[in-house]
Amino acid sequence: MLIFDSLSVRYGAGVQAIEDVGFEVRPGTVCAIIGGNGAGKTTLMRAVSGTLGYHGGRVVSGEIRLGETRIDRLNPHRIVQHGLALVPEGRHVFGELTVEENLQVGATTIGSGKLRQQRVRRAYEMFEALGRYRTRRASLLSGGEQQMLAIARGLMSGPEVLLLDEPSLGIAPKVVHRIGETLREINRAGTTVVLVEQNAAMALGVADQGVVIERGAISMRGDAAEMRETEEIRRMYLGGSAEEEEEAVAAAPHATIGRWEA
Ligand SMILES: Nc1ncnc2c1ncn2[C@@H]1O[C@H](COP(=O)(O)OP(=O)(O)OP(=O)(O)O)[C@@H](O)[C@H]1O
Ligand SMILES: [Mg+2]
Repeated sequence: MLIFDSLSVRYGAGVQAIEDVGFEVRPGTVCAIIGGNGAGKTTLMRAVSGTLGYHGGRVVSGEIRLGETRIDRLNPHRIVQHGLALVPEGRHVFGELTVEENLQVGATTIGSGKLRQQRVRRAYEMFEALGRYRTRRASLLSGGEQQMLAIARGLMSGPEVLLLDEPSLGIAPKVVHRIGETLREINRAGTTVVLVEQNAAMALGVADQGVVIERGAISMRGDAAEMRETEEIRRMYLGGSAEEEEEAVAAAPHATIGRWEA
């Protein structure tokens, strides 16, 4: 269980980015955190991954726990060792490195070379295109393929919880749909998924539970399917007609990751 307990985060002396945020992510589920620009979503991901300090931020009160372990005071490396991995906003693959080298970078917490090789093989099984392009420089991949690589790299540490900060950002709608399917597949294989998105239609279509953040505080939370039906969510985040939205969220349940054509 990943628990945010009355968490408040500040940048510098002034900016209160997160205020008294509390919710729990049940093991084995997909949780969507949605909200608009500047709501505090990335800040929450920085807090969970131990990277706030690199951005001049800090937890001023409350805590984050993964199981019995309080993680908000640990460094990023230790947090990964505790079973948490973040796919950061904007992908950040290493453009000059090959696909395989990028995967190796995600595996640095694994001591055993054999296990590392096993995970690389598993990534190529899951993401067929990456297997095809293993010696290609990451900068030459399409946006969708780079996102795929960022997700595969996140999985290299074998996380219990995978967090993703806006994986659909700047990706073509068709590929966004594939990302949704991929996340479900990863979840079915036993990983808890926390999905941060401005794209509420995609996120709530994939998730079991949803949390809405506005100006640093939780404004709504609940069952994702129920939330999609509420008037407030429709008006604020989904837009368009009910039909359009149905199309956007209808993820094919049986698609395989290997079929992803980015
Ligand atoms: N390094 C920083 N220093 C100071 N303020 C920051 C810093 N990073 C973010 N903020 C502020 O904290 C608030 C939350 O920002 P955050 O990036 O977490 O929002 P977000 O929900 O991820 O937005 P977006 O959807 O645009 O990515 C905003 O008011 C933002 O200006
Ligand atoms: Mg953000």
